[in-house]
Amino acid sequence: MRHTALLAITASAVQFSNATPVEHQRVQRLTLDPVKRADLSFSFRRREKQANSTSLTTTSTVIPLISSGVSPMSSKALRNAFVNSNSTSLNAAEYGAGYTIDIDFGGERFAVIFDTGSSDLWLARQGLRCVDYYGQDLNISDCGFGDFYNGSIATLPYQNFNVTYGDTETVTGKIGFQQVCVGGISVDHQEVALADYAYWNGDGVSSGVMGFAYPTLTSAYEGTDPSKDRQNVTGLPYTNWIFNAIAQQLIDPVFSVAMSRGHDSGPSGLLALGGLPDVPYKDDWASAPLQILELTHLASEAKNFSYYTIIPDGFVLRSNANSTSGISAPPPVNANMPTDFPVIIDSGTTLIYLPVALAEAVNNAFNPPATYIEGEGIFEAQCDAIPPYLAVVIDGKTFEIDRRDLLLTNLGVDGITGGCLTGVQPVDELYILGDSFLKNVVAVFDVGSSEMRFAAREPY
Ligand SMILES: *[C@@H]1O[C@H](CO)[C@@H](O)[C@H](O)[C@H]1NC(C)=O
Ligand SMILES: *[C@@H]1O[C@H](CO)[C@@H](O)[C@H](O)[C@H]1NC(C)=O
Ligand SMILES: *[C@@H]1O[C@H](CO)[C@@H](O)[C@H](O)[C@H]1NC(C)=O
Ligand SMILES: *[C@@H]1O[C@H](CO)[C@@H](O)[C@H](O)[C@H]1NC(C)=O
Ligand SMILES: *[C@@H]1O[C@H](CO)[C@@H](O)[C@H](O)[C@H]1NC(C)=O
Ligand SMILES: *[C@@H]1O[C@H](CO)[C@@H](O)[C@H](O)[C@H]1NC(C)=O
Ligand SMILES: *[C@@H]1O[C@H](CO)[C@@H](O)[C@H](O)[C@H]1NC(C)=O
Ligand SMILES: *[C@@H]1O[C@H](CO)[C@@H](O)[C@H](O)[C@H]1NC(C)=O
Repeated sequence: MRHTALLAITASAVQFSNATPVEHQRVQRLTLDPVKRADLSFSFRRREKQANSTSLTTTSTVIPLISSGVSPMSSKALRNAFVNSNSTSLNAAEYGAGYTIDIDFGGERFAVIFDTGSSDLWLARQGLRCVDYYGQDLNISDCGFGDFYNGSIATLPYQNFNVTYGDTETVTGKIGFQQVCVGGISVDHQEVALADYAYWNGDGVSSGVMGFAYPTLTSAYEGTDPSKDRQNVTGLPYTNWIFNAIAQQLIDPVFSVAMSRGHDSGPSGLLALGGLPDVPYKDDWASAPLQILELTHLASEAKNFSYYTIIPDGFVLRSNANSTSGISAPPPVNANMPTDFPVIIDSGTTLIYLPVALAEAVNNAFNPPATYIEGEGIFEAQCDAIPPYLAVVIDGKTFEIDRRDLLLTNLGVDGITGGCLTGVQPVDELYILGDSFLKNVVAVFDVGSSEMRFAAREPY
């Protein structure tokens, strides 16, 4: 099942579709919750490089990343936050293709969304209550889950699970323990969550999410009533699967992602545990120390790593040289825009989210320029527009973003405007390098050295 319909638009219900019209079944109207906006502010202190990088070797512990095809999949990164805090609607994060991995959960196989922007592993449980944004009951099929977990693991009686992702999707449930095996690496007694309540816009394939970010971002709480959860007060952080696998020395303290462009469902890249995947890349590595974000809504995050956060040196932007419509190239980005800001590296976010001025410059550099659609809070370009040259500079190395990742024609045409979504969108804070960036690199999440490393992929 592929969902090409989307979610959510307040001012005007707009629909992306692949050529043929699709049903409107899941278009919902939303309003913005101001409390959630406020939670987003953060600050950071720059963390300098600590040591020389350790050497990396290719590992045979690899598992395929599977593209779930076009779906209303979205950013799983930002908890309690809207991606675009100005918009009265959900935005571009709602459109995208997700990446899943297969895991063995107590002897049964499940597909879960591979997410470096969150930390919990949860599965939808049989009998789950599916609701809309307002908590009104929906048909279970409206949540778009794949298989449901119908086993009976012991759950903790006085704990609950409660997570809200960046696009407002919400899941609550119970906490328990299970043997979880990924790519042949098995953690025996892994704390996991079983969801029994969800506002969710699934891809029809995956049964939940597996988060690979730091344990600080886990979402277990004291008590049986999720509505009483307060992160500062009742949160009970636990060690998630990847950090257990590392602590138990089942793998070297690193994992790597070679995510590939894949417009249809199927294997599209590799996740390597403990080393590098065997894919062609340019052997010229950049490394950037992980930064500690001081997210004000969660005290423990002030002192611990949470997201995989780095500070790029800057961005390079050139409008297309073959411009025929007379647009002049925008000024060099560094000249008038700060580029000294943290970004998170997030496999669970489809697009790239940058500060408003920078995102505007990138979108203006399309030929013809992309336009901001107020009602939707997103930039769109003509589907045959020529994207600009855009690169992210990290550790002095330049990582070009392929034009195919800057204009997402595969996500379909906006039924109202006739436009296509661009790969770079504006946001006020918490900037993200999502899949549009990751498809161009081998990304090494080096937990052991507390840094990210990147090498450019050979063109594919
Ligand atoms: C890193 O390596 C270089 C050359 O191999 C060496 O000169 C330098 O001292 C090392 N730095 C650290 C922090 O280990
Ligand atoms: C729920 O959705 C399924 C599939 O669309 C349909 O067969 C079923 O009748 C629906 N159930 C209810 C209670 O609406
Ligand atoms: C539980 O799920 C498994 C695998 O999907 C299936 O084989 C089994 O029949 C299910 N059991 C029940 C009671 O629904
Ligand atoms: C946060 O860091 C402190 C010390 O740096 C550590 O004791 C604590 O366990 C960490 N918390 C989490 C949730 O990782
Ligand atoms: C989840 O926790 C938040 C507080 O962080 C609370 O406001 C919300 O009501 C809880 N969700 C549910 C479904 O109870
Ligand atoms: C959480 O704790 C921090 C530090 O103690 C505090 O600054 C912040 O306001 C608290 N947040 C909430 C939502 O209580
Ligand atoms: C720009 O023009 C050059 C030379 O005519 C051509 O090789 C190149 O493919 C063009 N680039 C784009 C993006 O159209
Ligand atoms: C949000 O609104 C403020 C004030 O109108 C504006 O400066 C900012 O650029 C807007 N941000 C986005 C993401 O549109």
